[in-house]
Amino acid sequence: MAGRGPCRLNSIGFGTWAWGNEFVWGYDSKTDDGRLAATFRQALSSGLNLIDTADSYGTGRLNGRSESLLGGFIDALPASRRSQLVVATKLAPFPWRLGRRGFHRAFDASQKRLGGHLKRVQLHWSTARYAPWQEAALLDGLADLVQAQQVDELGVSNVGPRRLRWMQARLMERGVKLRSVQIQWSLLSPGLAQAQEVLDLAQSLDIEVLAYSPLAFGVLSCAPAEAPRPSTWVRQRLFRRLLPESLEIRQLLLAIATERGASMVQVALNWCRATGTTPIPGIRTPSQAMDVAAALTWQLSESECSVLNQARERCIARMPSNPFQSR
Ligand SMILES: NC(=O)c1ccc[n+]([C@@H]2O[C@H](COP(=O)([O-])OP(=O)(O)OC[C@H]3O[C@@H](n4cnc5c(N)ncnc54)[C@H](OP(=O)(O)O)[C@@H]3O)[C@@H](O)[C@H]2O)c1
Repeated sequence: MAGRGPCRLNSIGFGTWAWGNEFVWGYDSKTDDGRLAATFRQALSSGLNLIDTADSYGTGRLNGRSESLLGGFIDALPASRRSQLVVATKLAPFPWRLGRRGFHRAFDASQKRLGGHLKRVQLHWSTARYAPWQEAALLDGLADLVQAQQVDELGVSNVGPRRLRWMQARLMERGVKLRSVQIQWSLLSPGLAQAQEVLDLAQSLDIEVLAYSPLAFGVLSCAPAEAPRPSTWVRQRLFRRLLPESLEIRQLLLAIATERGASMVQVALNWCRATGTTPIPGIRTPSQAMDVAAALTWQLSESECSVLNQARERCIARMPSNPFQSR
């Protein structure tokens, strides 16, 4: 299971799903945008360089908001700092995005919102479960963008080992490297066996694994004595269920954090790093950015990893599976 091997050091990025999302994250432009700009600046000055977004983060009147906020923040940076960033977006294979050129307009729109600073394009999920005939064409279309040097790198997301193997082989035939795969990965993530297969396969194929929702939507940041009430009903419901079920894991996170003079969040992120993944936690405040980056200054011991792995296997608390996850 996770963490069998020796603890290894990976980097940490950050995610921006909440930057424009009302339904899950209660985004409000009036109150949030200034704080998000400060969060972005703090994240960068703390040394976080990998930024994850998606063209579906912000819908309706907020269409593309995460990307456009990021584009504005990146534009304000000196060119030398901009060139150090890996800005990665995900394009959603909506049913109306058809065929090999199906993503091209979406790609141009994302690139425009991001001020031309996009470095990696990622397939947000595979269509294998509902429109398998689309999968090769859409992937080929993304590879075309890399080969035409419109973007540097290509990644995928929410794929299981079978799709990952197939995608990597197809891209390799084209001479395009599959740079990364994103999966839900945390002490409370679901589908442990399949996720571990993805980790093992990705490692053997030299594909970086980005761990999304590494804090289980913030549940893993809550001290055992705390009972926070998030602002949206989606997270309230999740916290009501997961806080009691995850008590033992959160007690362990707190114990290790206290011993280390660190935060529970740093312990949860360093568990992800110890499993060979690169966590991309969602951050919304400058102090969260600083705290997340502080995890880069230390690593878990093998015995700390092993205690957490055992608790994880005993724990009944599981985050909901992503409905777009394929095999
Ligand atoms: N590929 C996909 O399909 C997919 C799916 C989901 C997410 N993602 C990516 O992964 C990123 C991260 O996942 P996520 O946003 O779902 O959830 P997450 O990272 O598990 O949790 C984010 C929440 O954790 C809390 N948090 C973060 N840092 C903290 C700190 N230092 N101290 C205390 N609390 C802290 C914050 O809660 P508060 O806001 O309450 O402060 C934050 O909103 C997303 O932004 C997105 O880029 C990708």
